[in-house]
Amino acid sequence: MIRLTRPYFSDAEGIALTEVLASGMLIQGVRVAAFEEAVRAYLYGLGAPAAPPLQALAVSSGTTAIELCLATTPRGVGASDEVIVPALTWPSPGNAVLLRHATAVLVDIDPATWNLSPREVARALTPRTRAIIAVDQFGVPAELPALRALASDIDMIEDAACAIGSTLGGMPCGVLGDVGTYSFHPRKVVTTAEGGMVLTRDAARAEAITALRNHGQRSVGVFVGAGPNARLSELHAALGVLQMAKLDEMLTKRRALAATIRDAVALAWQGAPEGAVVNHQTLGFVLPTPTSGEFAGDRRGARDALVAALRASGVEAGILSYALHRLPQFAALGVNHLRRFPVTDAVVDGGVAVPLHPGMSEADAGVVTDRLREHAGWAIGDRTVRL
Ligand SMILES: Cc1ncc(COP(=O)(O)O)c(C=O)c1O
Repeated sequence: MIRLTRPYFSDAEGIALTEVLASGMLIQGVRVAAFEEAVRAYLYGLGAPAAPPLQALAVSSGTTAIELCLATTPRGVGASDEVIVPALTWPSPGNAVLLRHATAVLVDIDPATWNLSPREVARALTPRTRAIIAVDQFGVPAELPALRALASDIDMIEDAACAIGSTLGGMPCGVLGDVGTYSFHPRKVVTTAEGGMVLTRDAARAEAITALRNHGQRSVGVFVGAGPNARLSELHAALGVLQMAKLDEMLTKRRALAATIRDAVALAWQGAPEGAVVNHQTLGFVLPTPTSGEFAGDRRGARDALVAALRASGVEAGILSYALHRLPQFAALGVNHLRRFPVTDAVVDGGVAVPLHPGMSEADAGVVTDRLREHAGWAIGDRTVRL
């Protein structure tokens, strides 16, 4: 089976973990600091401005990273406030808003990039909007400059969970907003098993998050408020240091494999905004709604049948993402009742992810291509895909 995704490890990771265990220093040691420095150095190399200095703060997950960003939004986020979140995403960003007792205002996505549509965001802004969480969906940069132009006094949180290594207009994803986050979950381009990071150039905010992630301690025994334990361990960080050293290699492989598959099969692949360079964290397309045959009018049925057929023929395909307006915690919010999310619905019902990871060979990419031609032939070249 060609796996949908797989971490890119070698023997070095095992050796590094053994070294951490032998050191007896399992938390708050040199590896976390080295991992943070490796990410900072990488982002400067990719085009992040030198001033003001960029802070990279390792935390326990991408979800925790978003929660810490919301906890430090300059004007605060509380019960009477709204935060804009894309309707298409893993639930973390929306859940983080609900956990602050604020309202998650869902907004539909752009049909080409599957990211927040600036036009729809403009219609959703109210005097109660405190923040926008712009997700770089599957590593494709969200249009942060266009969103910023809509509202200068709103906290722009870039959820770059999937987007390390991607850029927009020469600026790395993760530093396109006021504050940004990465995830190092096993499906991500860089993985530490579990892990995340907050990126910001706001020194005061970095200081607040540094204390918050460690029980609210500014320094040993000096507590400045209530905070969770959101630290990353030395074991996880040791993996991160090694992953950062091969990030360019992993990106080169991902980009070449993605080009092979996308160029060979004319499906409705995810697009990118002008000026974007993407990392191909996920390779996905949306099926059209069949107009005849067993699944006429049933996009979701056709998608499920295709995913099953690909899997049965050795290609581990999967679905793409989630529609937050269909999840109970968001459906219950009155503010979302009158909204419609047709593009999100189309991507969720018709979306297919196919294998892409740096351990794949070009021959594997050829197999994915062949199986797509075999099982999705009816959708290839169909320019009528309506999102
Ligand atoms: C867009 C997005 N945000 C947040 C997360 C949460 O990251 P984590 O699993 O590290 O908590 C994920 C993925 O898992 C994600 O895809």
